[in-house]
Amino acid sequence: MRILTAFAIFGLVCLAGSADDNVARLLAAKHVQNQYLVEGRDLTVTYSIYNVGTSAALNVQLTDEGFPESDFKVKHGMPTVNWARIAPGTNVTHSIVLTPLKSGKFNFTAAELSYVPSEGAQPQIGYTSGPGEGGIMPERDYDRKFSPHILDWAAFAVMTLPSIGIPLMLWYSSNRKYRISSKAKKH
Ligand SMILES: *[C@@H]1O[C@H](CO)[C@@H](O)[C@H](O)[C@H]1NC(C)=O
Ligand SMILES: *[C@@H]1O[C@H](CO)[C@@H](O)[C@H](O)[C@H]1NC(C)=O
Repeated sequence: MRILTAFAIFGLVCLAGSADDNVARLLAAKHVQNQYLVEGRDLTVTYSIYNVGTSAALNVQLTDEGFPESDFKVKHGMPTVNWARIAPGTNVTHSIVLTPLKSGKFNFTAAELSYVPSEGAQPQIGYTSGPGEGGIMPERDYDRKFSPHILDWAAFAVMTLPSIGIPLMLWYSSNRKYRISSKAKKH
């Protein structure tokens, strides 16, 4: 569980090292939003791209190949998304909802970003931050941890009854015996 807290840390990766004027510079982050990752339950991933450059980024395409079909089903949204233009000083965000098909450890890797940093320039490739490794909980364990434990409590009460009930009965019967015998002595 401790690993998951790493997802909350905001990570930005600088995609274009160029300090030239009039180019787009994109900072891109990928975040897993859920506190608990559970097999069969919605998992939300958001991507945010911030153009810190002085020019618009053109033909921006975000592609996340980090969710193999054997491990995840896409419930909402697309793992590939395009923006024709991201103006300087603006942010764009994108989210997808996935269903994890398996439990166990999973390495959440960086998504790829391609874009044209200024009019007529060559396309560039960059990456978002990578959330890193997280543990996906089996659904059964999650239910046991968080759903109401009515049946568990009932079983617990039945099991603990003898340990409370028997001493009480013994105390009650010995107390009665004591009172009877002390009465008997008076007579
Ligand atoms: C864009 O996102 C960054 C990082 O979260 C934030 O610092 C900035 O204020 C945002 N800018 C706009 C225009 O929303
Ligand atoms: C996760 O994947 C990244 C990129 O492939 C790799 O650099 C990193 O070492 C991996 N982390 C773990 C814990 O396997």
